[in-house]
Amino acid sequence: MLQFKITDSEFKLIRDFIYDHAGINLSDEKKTLVTSRLSKRLRHYSLNSFKEYFDLMIASPKDGEQQVAVDLLTTNETYFFREPKHFAFLEKEVLPNWKGRGPLRVWSAASSTGEEAYSIAMLLDDMLGNRPWEIFGSDISSRVLKSAQQGHYIQNRIDGIPKEYLRKYCLKGTGDHEGTLLIDSSLRKKVRFAPVNLKRPLGNVGEFDIIFLRNVLIYFDIETKRQIIRQLVEKMHPDGYLFIGHSESLKGIHDGLETVMPTVYQKI
Ligand SMILES: C[S@@+](CC[C@H](N)C(=O)[O-])C[C@H]1O[C@@H](n2cnc3c(N)ncnc32)[C@H](O)[C@@H]1O
Repeated sequence: MLQFKITDSEFKLIRDFIYDHAGINLSDEKKTLVTSRLSKRLRHYSLNSFKEYFDLMIASPKDGEQQVAVDLLTTNETYFFREPKHFAFLEKEVLPNWKGRGPLRVWSAASSTGEEAYSIAMLLDDMLGNRPWEIFGSDISSRVLKSAQQGHYIQNRIDGIPKEYLRKYCLKGTGDHEGTLLIDSSLRKKVRFAPVNLKRPLGNVGEFDIIFLRNVLIYFDIETKRQIIRQLVEKMHPDGYLFIGHSESLKGIHDGLETVMPTVYQKI
């Protein structure tokens, strides 16, 4: 198979594009990753260089090849009940003490393929009984949102789901669907997914009691992080909670938030 090489100036074009568009900060070490992820598009269009691909992509509509490039350049790794301490904190501290009158609103703000949003949904359904709740999942990648909406996963990716929840909220595939699992429709109905680019104004998403913003801040520089956190805090109810990933930090940029425990913040 034809192997493509990316020049420094081509890498810079792509790096500037994804930074301007998504806030994602690609270091020089990501050259190999960019080459391998975009090479298939050069083959698809029978192009000879990344410059040709860049020109084609920039000339295309935002929801055309530009979106394909964003889908390919984002890293979407996720799994059910990732970072279990956060779920334990929700279960033991947040949900039993929640006094809100309307529905409890939770936002999985970089949801990837939906495992995070459905993990939260299982916990809320189990803990809140008849009290109303809703979850909004969003991401910049339209490809991952499509699979999030389907709620259909391959069996070997479901390790983190507690056995009781597997029985209660997941349908095991049979026949053609052997080896897969479908999130029960009663849960899927309460989880809505839509595209949101955190780098842009957030639009009318409403206000939230809990926001999960996990394992996405690592891709941003400090200025972008600051801008995103400022926007998200505006969308939180007073006393609302913000969760970030365990390898992430809000050092110096958590205005309007106080630390409850490492990686968990509450709006002041
Ligand atoms: C590693 S996944 C994290 C998934 C999940 N939150 C978790 O912790 O398992 C990071 C996600 O952030 C999304 N992302 C990157 N930049 C974004 C942006 N500017 N706006 C919204 N989502 C973005 C990517 O598309 C990707 O799906």
